[in-house]
Amino acid sequence: MWLLHLAAGFFGALLVGGMDLKAQESLLLKSLGLRARPSPKSPAPVPPLLWKMFHRRTLPLAKDQKPKDACWVEEFGVPGNIIRVFPDQGGFIHREEPQSWVCLQKRLYFNFSAVEEAEELTMAQLQVRFGQNSYHASGSGPPFELSLYRASQMALRGMSTHAYSRSLLVEQSFLQLHKSFLFNLTEVAKDWRTAGKNLGLILEIASPRAGELCSGLDSFLDASLLVVSLAPRHCKGGRAKRSSGYVPAGLSNICKPRRLFVSFGDIGWENWIIAPQGYLANYCLGECPFPLTEELNSTNHAILQTMVHSLDPEGTPQPCCVPVRLSPISILYYDNDDNVVLRHYEDMVVDECGCR
Ligand SMILES: *[C@@H]1O[C@H](CO)[C@@H](O)[C@H](O)[C@H]1NC(C)=O
Ligand SMILES: *[C@@H]1O[C@H](CO)[C@@H](O)[C@H](O)[C@H]1NC(C)=O
Ligand SMILES: *[C@@H]1O[C@H](CO)[C@@H](O)[C@H](O)[C@H]1NC(C)=O
Repeated sequence: MWLLHLAAGFFGALLVGGMDLKAQESLLLKSLGLRARPSPKSPAPVPPLLWKMFHRRTLPLAKDQKPKDACWVEEFGVPGNIIRVFPDQGGFIHREEPQSWVCLQKRLYFNFSAVEEAEELTMAQLQVRFGQNSYHASGSGPPFELSLYRASQMALRGMSTHAYSRSLLVEQSFLQLHKSFLFNLTEVAKDWRTAGKNLGLILEIASPRAGELCSGLDSFLDASLLVVSLAPRHCKGGRAKRSSGYVPAGLSNICKPRRLFVSFGDIGWENWIIAPQGYLANYCLGECPFPLTEELNSTNHAILQTMVHSLDPEGTPQPCCVPVRLSPISILYYDNDDNVVLRHYEDMVVDECGCR
């Protein structure tokens, strides 16, 4: 509710030519869980999976469908309201003495600085993508070995393979490299949040017939880490419900939700919010007169207040028309590190109003 008030205040300030816009904007950003307004430098394309998740969230609910919980990620069955995709920032490792069976060796690094301390990390999944079937099997036996190591220490000198002490996380054999591999890195990523512990991973593709099979090394496309986390400050545990909630027409000045479309372009946020372009936030406006208050989701207190108000209009005001039911929305955006983030926010849309 206060977020919407802030938003309304923000538009108001814009309309009157802006007093202390910066302060208002930073409050609004803070309530969205952001430290500053992101300004993407080299934004990556949005991963198809995030688009899919975003669109699933924005579909209108069928009649018998349970409303979506802003703090549960259905797709993975884990708690969370923030889904980030971190691009890999590691480089290829060029060895001084090439081992003949190693096709490819690469450091994978994901910068976690965007993850706030208060967030609880609930899932991390590494995706490694290769060009389509570039390595082909011929003859018998698994020709490729994919190994994923966790780098745990850096040596003082040099940046060669041996500069990292490493521990094996996964080892898998393949007849051919598929387009994409997924690895569960939840435990490792949790540990990476401790300062100094995130030294990344080392990916190695090896084959006993490397000379014959590894010529198309450009087959490695990219790696990314999908991380789900829960920012508890934005999750009250209350499951939001969605309903149309409009009061029957007739008494037009009675307390009820009114239409308010918030356009992110209007507040200059279109360069970092990918989707939606805006949303129907609504607001509450109207009177709470005696004796109608009972039908307007009032508290006993509000009913008493309207009675007193009808007896003494000067001394006691009417109760206020305020949101009593709100529902969540999802926003897809670039953060300050150019990571693509899908975040679910509770209490963004006014569904019902009441006299309080
Ligand atoms: C991670 O990102 C932050 C913020 O963009 C930056 O200050 C920091 O140097 C980065 N760390 C590494 C190891 O690249
Ligand atoms: C990933 O690993 C974590 C911890 O080891 C486990 O709790 C979780 O169920 C795993 N997730 C999947 C999808 O396998
Ligand atoms: C009051 O609540 C009921 C049920 O929860 C709902 O149907 C109705 O639309 C609400 N009234 C207003 C004014 O939002």
